[in-house]
Amino acid sequence: MLEIIPSILSADFSRLGEEIAKVERGGATMLHVDVMDGHFVPNLTVGPPVLRSIRKVTKLTLDVHFMITNPDPYVPLFVEAGADQISVHQEVCPHLDRTLRLIQSEGALAGVVLNPSTPATMLEEVFGLADFVLIMSVNPGFGGQQLIPRTLEKVRWVATRRREMGLKFPIEIDGGVTLDNLSEVVRAGVDWVVAGATVFLSPDPAATVVEMRRIAQESNAVRA
Ligand code: DX5
Ligand code: ZN
Repeated sequence: MLEIIPSILSADFSRLGEEIAKVERGGATMLHVDVMDGHFVPNLTVGPPVLRSIRKVTKLTLDVHFMITNPDPYVPLFVEAGADQISVHQEVCPHLDRTLRLIQSEGALAGVVLNPSTPATMLEEVFGLADFVLIMSVNPGFGGQQLIPRTLEKVRWVATRRREMGLKFPIEIDGGVTLDNLSEVVRAGVDWVVAGATVFLSPDPAATVVEMRRIAQESNAVRA
């Protein structure tokens, strides 16, 4: 259940296969792929052809994070290209219920993402429908930013509501996780920890994943 999910945003894209092999050696079971459109966020990244190439070189669970304003038409394209799970931002989904069901009907797990400025109460009506919840701990668009501490309060609130409702969905966090704040992040209630710069800009990404998994397991053992 507790997973460190390397984000390829900070990987060397000219050697993507080798970069992925490194985090596999470190024991990662999932890989985070950021899809940006230059509208919802001020940056552009990859589309289905790149995901398809990644799919060919790894069996890791592909966790696709959509940062695009009009997600629905792209859901089938990314599932066909190899996405195992897709998360969409609440802020761009006026028909969030429909979009989550669309992802599920295509055969992928459906996640809902909240920006740092979006209140967690926006999730109330999709608890029980979303397969997982992703709390952004930075403003989306770029790797290597600093975690916004207040977002951990949101994680705690979601974890409390999850317990109260008797649900089991994973809580994911994305942005600014380092070796120094990882323990606090896990103790707040996070199950899936995305890490880009901390993993891929380290001298030894495999060893960094091993170390992050160790810290996460230890912190999980002591969390309330
Ligand atoms: C940011 C992306 C993140 C990014 C995180 O918009 O959604 O997935 O890769 O990178 P770090 O871990 O470097 O903050
Ligand atoms: Zn992301």
